[in-house]
Amino acid sequence: MSLSGDELFAAGRFDEAMAAYRQILAKDPADAAARMGLDAILERARTEQPNALLRELLLQAYADDGANWEAVGWGAANQLLVGWPQDNDLAVLAADPLLREFLRKSLNRDAALERRLIALRRAVADALLAAEAPGEAIVALADALAEQAWHNEYIWSDDATVPDGSAAAMFRPSATPRADVIEERRLAAEIPEIAPIIDAVSQSVAAMYEANPYPRWTHLARRPTVDVRAALLHDFPHAAPVDFGDGPLQVLMPGAGTGQHPLTVASSYAGAQVTGVDLSRASLAYGKRMASRHGIANIEFLRGDILDLAKLGRTFDHAECVGVLHHMADPRAGLMAISSVLRPGAFLRLGLYGEGARTLVVRARRDIEAAKLPATLDGLRDFRRRVMTGQWRRLRGLTEWEDFWSASLLRDLCFHVQEHRYTVSRVRSFLEGSGLNFLGFEFNVGASQRADAGAGPLALYAARFPSERTLSDLANWEQLEREKSGLFPGYAFVCQKM
Ligand SMILES: C[S@@+](CC[C@H](N)C(=O)[O-])C[C@H]1O[C@@H](n2cnc3c(N)ncnc32)[C@H](O)[C@@H]1O
Repeated sequence: MSLSGDELFAAGRFDEAMAAYRQILAKDPADAAARMGLDAILERARTEQPNALLRELLLQAYADDGANWEAVGWGAANQLLVGWPQDNDLAVLAADPLLREFLRKSLNRDAALERRLIALRRAVADALLAAEAPGEAIVALADALAEQAWHNEYIWSDDATVPDGSAAAMFRPSATPRADVIEERRLAAEIPEIAPIIDAVSQSVAAMYEANPYPRWTHLARRPTVDVRAALLHDFPHAAPVDFGDGPLQVLMPGAGTGQHPLTVASSYAGAQVTGVDLSRASLAYGKRMASRHGIANIEFLRGDILDLAKLGRTFDHAECVGVLHHMADPRAGLMAISSVLRPGAFLRLGLYGEGARTLVVRARRDIEAAKLPATLDGLRDFRRRVMTGQWRRLRGLTEWEDFWSASLLRDLCFHVQEHRYTVSRVRSFLEGSGLNFLGFEFNVGASQRADAGAGPLALYAARFPSERTLSDLANWEQLEREKSGLFPGYAFVCQKM
């Protein structure tokens, strides 16, 4: 019997897995599982020399609105770097469709490529300024660089010598707002409010995300449809099987942000009706615009504080809240507010910062405070300059973090007005008395983690505590965390309302 693409992938046989996924996509370009599998390979693909097949597959991925442009951006960055002309020939670079697609659709996250792109931006600006009628290819490259600047929120150091005009869009926002910004302003005003924000920390967190909605995303990756409750019962067979009937699955997404996670849920969870709540109107408006761009109607966005969820007067069958509660003054009050609107048997998926995983960020926050760097674009650029030039060498490792590469991401990562960090022991007391039953940690969110249970922390737990089959005893996890550092990249876990 021949192995499936996913089985070949799991066995590390990437060339064969790639061939299997391509075969499926050739027959059915909308096959979500094959698209995800191929994108995961393109994400990891690294070569020393330019590779024609990979380039072709990357261009195909960029031509597919349902591909994961964030993931394939890693493979594209590698191809761009290994194929970069030695003499930085502008004509060659301007003729490269992969470079333009990458700049338009993926956020660059590579330090070496950033250096080249900054130099390229200068060369393109010079060419635009020198020519009376610049060629089409140069204009297209300038547009793509301007789009990249928009994605990274102008985080690259500025070149104030570039005058206003066609080249300026690669360096700073235009005085005339873009069409998407105008649309978001209109949408923001229409978003209903649960109640005015009165908590002081919520107010300053709201101000931060009004200025820098997180994250600014470009694509909605196609996902296979999933019955989320059945999938969770499969992953956590010790959960209570509660049937909510045939109506829509009412899903709450507290801290919905700019909607990437809620729209993924709305478009891939069978029968879901999603309610996204957030403090930031600008973030929600981004999500609303993206919902209409992707034709997703089973979602509503509400402005409000998690602390006020009970004022909705509604209950939910399922909730997901990732990267949010650790930004509240009292995360436990946030948890209790969410728990209070869940029906008995509802699942809650949570994601919290880990103390151990964020030691470098804690150092960065200390250095930022000591140097009095403000959380403005200038402050963020100054911080990056110190890290990338080696002036703050001990923070260099931050360039390995995915959130180093745009203003909203970096502000969230190192300049946040409020953050708590957890250990297993703190997760345990966090959940105690919340009316929520801990079901287990997730290390591979999105896929079925049991497929991955042969590796990593779950396997370690199973070997260390063989008689505890549910892998969900927090006292055991606490012990394992003491014995093995670096076990958790953060805490992603699922609970069930009792
Ligand atoms: C780091 S972002 C994460 C966004 C989204 N969950 C994601 O994973 O992409 C945190 C979001 O939580 C929201 N948030 C923080 N505290 C909140 C509160 N008390 N009530 C509602 N939203 C809150 C912020 O406005 C922000 O959009």
